Amino acid sequence: MKIAIASDHAGFNYKEEISKYIKSKGHQVLDFGTYSEDSVDYPDFAFPAAEAVASLVADYGVLICGTGIGMSIVSNKVTGIRAALCTSTYMADMARKHNNANIICFGARTTTIEEIKKMLDVFLSEDFLGDRHMIRVEKIHNLTGN
Ligand code: RB5
Repeated sequence: MKIAIASDHAGFNYKEEISKYIKSKGHQVLDFGTYSEDSVDYPDFAFPAAEAVASLVADYGVLICGTGIGMSIVSNKVTGIRAALCTSTYMADMARKHNNANIICFGARTTTIEEIKKMLDVFLSEDFLGDRHMIRVEKIHNLTGN
């Protein structure tokens, strides 16, 4: 699969480590920056990565900032994006099975890299269950006409 990845300065080191991990699993990584620990603004990196997922250039997105909160707020503004900020494998599992999330967000200052790798294993392998969850996801998109 093609995975869009982005971070701000707070998530930069994690982004590098996560990119290597995703590649080691046989996926292609599309890196939308940032490319150093110099201070930047997370919307500038979350938005283009989310657009790549929404336009189907990438299958999924992985976004990292200090808490994951900014990345999730920004990416959920893009039509067609369902971004989930996850802190456990249970949340990563539910994000795919129940919410059909297409972006997962992490906090580099809140979550260990080992926990994130476990969450990625789940997120990149589980499928949406559809059925009653499909009705709910459709209701989300009907709220704003997308
Ligand atoms: C940067 O200091 C921090 O605010 C950012 O990485 C993120 O946590 C925002 O949600």
